[in-house]
Amino acid sequence: MNDILNNIIARRSIRSYSTKQIPDVSLADLINAGIYAPSGGNSQSRIFTVLQKTNLLEDLNEAVKEAFLNMNVDKMTYKSKISGKQASIDPRYSFYYYAPTLIIVSNDRKYSNAMADCSVALENIFLVAHSLDLGSCWINQLAWFCDEPKVRMILTELGIPKNYIVCGSASIGYSSGNIPHARSKKEGTVDIIK
Ligand SMILES: Cc1cc2nc3c(=O)[nH]c(=O)nc-3n(C[C@H](O)[C@H](O)[C@H](O)COP(=O)(O)O)c2cc1C
Repeated sequence: MNDILNNIIARRSIRSYSTKQIPDVSLADLINAGIYAPSGGNSQSRIFTVLQKTNLLEDLNEAVKEAFLNMNVDKMTYKSKISGKQASIDPRYSFYYYAPTLIIVSNDRKYSNAMADCSVALENIFLVAHSLDLGSCWINQLAWFCDEPKVRMILTELGIPKNYIVCGSASIGYSSGNIPHARSKKEGTVDIIK
């Protein structure tokens, strides 16, 4: 099978990391992968913010935990937000799974392709991470809470402009557990019309 397709099929979301930091040269490859992703009208307006400082990651974690605590849920609330709120009560909770590197991808809140551009960049990052034997996972909490005051304060400290929203982030590091099996894929989601 084609090497790229093999890499796509073998990539899994990793949720357990060793504390060992990734090499700078690998980080450069990941960022290049993001930068070379397509963007609507070639706008390239997304920003990649790489966070490797443990104390800042911990500060963000505290701000996310507080946001979960303040979040009201009802029957319309997205199920991952409800399970996140429950998980965040655990003192060992880390929204980024204690990964040594978190890449935050943000974009202009008024730009209609903000999420699409960030998503293709993130998938490029996940695929290159996998090809380098690094684990990765999409992390959504900063997208949910980027406008919560304490989270925003830290994002501002990191240089993310106020008119930017976080669309997603990537936890990156060496996997410290077993690689999960691929989830079964739903049938009937493809129509080929010839
Ligand atoms: C938009 C989006 C948001 C996601 N948010 C999270 C998240 O916040 N935390 C997490 O652990 N996984 C998150 N994931 C990962 C999915 O749970 C995962 O991709 C899915 O279960 C399939 O597993 P796989 O990536 O190993 O194939 C997210 C994925 C996407 C595409």
